[in-house]
Parts: sequence; structure tokens; C-alpha cells
Amino acid sequence: MIEKNLEKSLRVRKIKNGTVIDHISPGNALNVLRIVGITGKEGMIISIAMNVPSDKSGLKDVVKIENKELAPEEINRIALISPNATINIIRDYEVVQKNKVILEEKIVGVIKCMNPNCITNSNEPVESIFKVEQTNPISLRCLYCDWVIDYNNIVRQF
Ligand code: CTP
Ligand code: ZN
Repeated sequence: MIEKNLEKSLRVRKIKNGTVIDHISPGNALNVLRIVGITGKEGMIISIAMNVPSDKSGLKDVVKIENKELAPEEINRIALISPNATINIIRDYEVVQKNKVILEEKIVGVIKCMNPNCITNSNEPVESIFKVEQTNPISLRCLYCDWVIDYNNIVRQF
């Protein structure tokens, strides 16, 4: 047990300040970083653990971003690819805020419609809008042309 805890603590060290995105569906840490627009070129210290055993069940990915508190509007996009993710805000080593990501009913301007004839793909200045068609796995329906975008096509866009 001690060995197990030691192994775990060495793998994902605690941070002093920043954001921990926890319980990411296994294999999706890099997609999560992309979805919140972090490339790694910003110079922030970022730790990524992928496919680590979760206390609760199965495997998970974890992303720790030091000295940056992500805003809620940046965070909820994560629900598109990882509905069980939790966002922990850390200050002086303490978790001061813990939120589950929320899948918004309408996804505006984030996902591109796959229908080449959709008005959102024309020269008109129209932002894409999708409604959640299905969860687990998620699919989205374009409000303009009714095309359905499935999970794989959502992930591929990040
Ligand atoms: N964490 C961290 N640095 C800190 C505090 C917490 O990196 N100073 C990380 C923990 O490693 C964990 C996440 O933030 O991955 C949430 O911490 P905590 O709420 O203490 O863990 P749990 O109770 O296991 O969280 P949950 O119930 O959400 O699974
Ligand atoms: Zn469309």
C-alpha cells in the first residue's frame, strides 16, 4: 500500500497554484489541452498523466496547469470529449474550487459543420450552432442544416 501511494505521488505531484483537470477519459489529455487552446508554447508548466489507474474506476488522464486558473467558459467545452472531467482550482496547495464540466445545450462557434453546403461553411458571417443530439457517445446536430456530427468527428476537430 505504501509502495502504491508512493508510486502514485511520484507520478502526479501536487501543485501549489493553478488548475487540475481530473477524471479525463483515458487517452484524451492532449485533446483536452487543444480544446482549451493550450499549445504548450505559452511557457506555462504543464504536467500530463495518461491512462493512470483511477481511485474510482478504471483509468483516467490528468492535466495540471501551474499558475493559471482556467475560466468556466474555457472549461465547459471539455464536456464535448470528456463528460466526467472535474476542474480543480488550486491555491496554496489546497483545492479551493471543484467543478464538473457542464455539457451546454447549444454549442456555439466551437465545432465546424461537416456539410460543405451548410450556411456556416459559406461566405456568410454565420457562426455554427449545434444542439446535443445524443450523449455517451456524444453527437451534435447542426441547427442550420440538420447534419449530425458524431463523436469521432468532434474529437478530430481539436
Ligand atoms: N491536486 C494537485 N495539487 C494540489 C491539490 C490537488 O495536483 N495541491 C490534484 C489531485 O492530485 C487530484 C485533484 O487535484 O488529482 C483533485 O484533488 P482532491 O480533490 O484532493 O482529490 P480527490 O478527493 O481524489 O478528488 P475527486 O473526488 O474529484 O476524485
Ligand atoms: Zn450545418
